Amino acid sequence: MPPCLTVLGNINLDFSIQVARIPAKGENVVADGFELIAGGKGANQAVAAARLGAQVLLIGCLGNDAYGKVLRKRLSHEGVNVKWVETTAEAATGTAFVFVGQADADNRIVSVLGANLKCSPQHIEQAHRAFERCDFFLTSLGVPEDTVNRAMQVAADCSVPAFLDPSPLGKKSPQLWTGSSVITPNQTEASRLVKVQVKNSATALTAARKMATRGIERIAITLGSKGCLLLDEDGARLIPGFNVQVVDPTGAGDAFSAALAIRLAEEASFDEAATFANATGALACTGRGAQLSLPTRDKVEALLKRTRRDKKLKVTAL
Ligand code: RIB
Repeated sequence: MPPCLTVLGNINLDFSIQVARIPAKGENVVADGFELIAGGKGANQAVAAARLGAQVLLIGCLGNDAYGKVLRKRLSHEGVNVKWVETTAEAATGTAFVFVGQADADNRIVSVLGANLKCSPQHIEQAHRAFERCDFFLTSLGVPEDTVNRAMQVAADCSVPAFLDPSPLGKKSPQLWTGSSVITPNQTEASRLVKVQVKNSATALTAARKMATRGIERIAITLGSKGCLLLDEDGARLIPGFNVQVVDPTGAGDAFSAALAIRLAEEASFDEAATFANATGALACTGRGAQLSLPTRDKVEALLKRTRRDKKLKVTAL
């Protein structure tokens, strides 16, 4: 049986704008290209998980508009169960403006959350069945905080491990972030959560140790192309990243979290799951856009096989 993952999070239409380089303050530049691409952290995680072979139930909210209809169709087409994706007449479907600088393959994102903010705690009550059915619950923060908090409580009541990708992180940490059993912050998010400036693996370790004192069992701090730092009851280690030609990193973190959740649900070790997640995240950087570039399981397995054959996967204990 494939693992079953329930995902709560935002669903957006991304306006992806390719520029030679991200404009500096006060600069006015002309774009090289523009595309409308399905995105949103929750939707990206759901599609990533479906492409990796999981059964996926998505909880979220769309506007009653043309973008909403297209995005719902796309999610279903990917095999995501959208029974708990509501449609609201009170706000427009979420959008995001994604600037991709081609010189350094970097991005900047501004989201207009719209209908995502209408995803309410009542919505979680209605989706109770989605928690009873799943092996793992994965959430990010593109929906209201009280909705995330309620979902974490329901997951705990159903004895389902909660997995938090703490993004987009506002000024204040969400109340229940310490209730998650797995957390995957990037360096900036880790810095904000525990007020330690994370710049390298040494400072990431300090931040991870602080998170562990708050009761989180498994911590994976993502370090971009360097891979990720893991901390659990077996100690800390660095899981190396994969060397790929980066085109657009949009959605790579979402792919990482979905892949990690799936392999943990499949009872892989934390190291194996993180290696698989690093490979999935790396492949998601090799094509344009969030959902366009999410890899299938075959592609991830092939990258892992190639890298193992070349003996390039060396875990470093810290
Ligand atoms: O993580 C990438 C996503 O962040 C984009 O798809 C965009 O919609 C924003 O939510």
